Amino acid sequence: MTKEILIESAKKYGTPLYVYDGDLIVKRYKELHEFIKWPKLKIYYAMKANYNFEILKLLNQHGAHIDAVSPGDVLLALKAGFSPDKILFTANKITDAEMLEVSKLGVLFNIGSLSRLEKYGKEFPGKDICIRFNSNVVAGEHENVRTGGESTKFGILLNKVEKVKEIVKKYDLKVIGLHEHTGSGIPETTDVIKGMVNLLTIATKENFPDLEFIDFGGGFKVPYSPEEKRINYEEFGKEITRVFSEFCKEYGRELKLCFEPGKYVVAEAGNLVIETTTIKENNGKLIAGTNSGFPQLIRPMFYQAYHHILNLTNSEGELKEYDVCGNICETGDCFAVNRELPEIREGDLLTIQNAGAYCYSMGGLYNLRPMPAEVLVLNGETKLARKRLSNEEMVQQIIEES
Ligand code: LLP
Repeated sequence: MTKEILIESAKKYGTPLYVYDGDLIVKRYKELHEFIKWPKLKIYYAMKANYNFEILKLLNQHGAHIDAVSPGDVLLALKAGFSPDKILFTANKITDAEMLEVSKLGVLFNIGSLSRLEKYGKEFPGKDICIRFNSNVVAGEHENVRTGGESTKFGILLNKVEKVKEIVKKYDLKVIGLHEHTGSGIPETTDVIKGMVNLLTIATKENFPDLEFIDFGGGFKVPYSPEEKRINYEEFGKEITRVFSEFCKEYGRELKLCFEPGKYVVAEAGNLVIETTTIKENNGKLIAGTNSGFPQLIRPMFYQAYHHILNLTNSEGELKEYDVCGNICETGDCFAVNRELPEIREGDLLTIQNAGAYCYSMGGLYNLRPMPAEVLVLNGETKLARKRLSNEEMVQQIIEES
């Protein structure tokens, strides 16, 4: 994404502004198929990463499937044109009401607890299901996003497979898929492979004779800083297909191979363009205050995540060290601490990079500022993909909902 597009978009739509590179999203989605050469590969885009309606429609046009985690996710994916058979519903801790609501929408359930399996079986005997196991690998770029391992709330432990079979038999359920998800932004590809291998130990014909697919979740890491090396996904893809093809030979049938990337597809395509409102010097320490804050991009504060920042309007300025902060009434509200950047002046536009995944989607209205607008750039054309509410509209909405 060029600086010019970001500056022009900021001028046209105002800041703070999310700008997404639609061409990069499509490229990332498609290249997974080049890396993982399995004829029956299915990519279930994890829409929790970014549920922007235009992005969903774009990925649907390119044949993606959807990993949905709530009734809202399922409803929005259907509206974006995904057919029910392309959506996998992997919700944690759902209520009975949610189970009934989503079952009417005709999507496959991915069930990750014995008690939910029992309740689902009782309500819908004979149905197809996918079972989520915990493949007991702990990995991911921050402790809050490591999903595997015995101490987490996710999936059914592998040693409970007999209990799963009992419930499945009792209600005549048909297990057509198995699932696991290890974590997000997994730095070591060997951990992903370990998770796969662990799950495959129980994916035998004896345990589950009706399998059509195995889904190994998301977690494909992308670099967040310019110095960070990109994982060699070509090599990784070869290893994945080697492991899976050996498994399929043993199983006796070529199954569908599924992944659920969120970050990999959208993270790098996003920018949050913000404006510098206040420069302060506290006894030598420079603080650049901006017109956004953690309710609009929480990853630095929540996961101590590094997001690269560029000064769009003074890129040749003298390098100085800044805390780049937000406009929220909390000290931790910083996008970067002690970051060297070309001199920042009041009015300068900055862009926070890699803001495509888990940024807008984790946003909220804390301190009552409306979420930024979102813009999608595709084939050089810029299009407003979601508007920013005015302060009046936001307040009116609160009053109407009260
Ligand atoms: N599948 C399941 C079952 C998941 O729980 C997740 C992410 C994914 C797929 C997609 O993972 P990805 O490919 O995006 O790593 N908010 C955090 C990440 C939370 C991930 C939650 N689950 C962050 O900003 O780093």
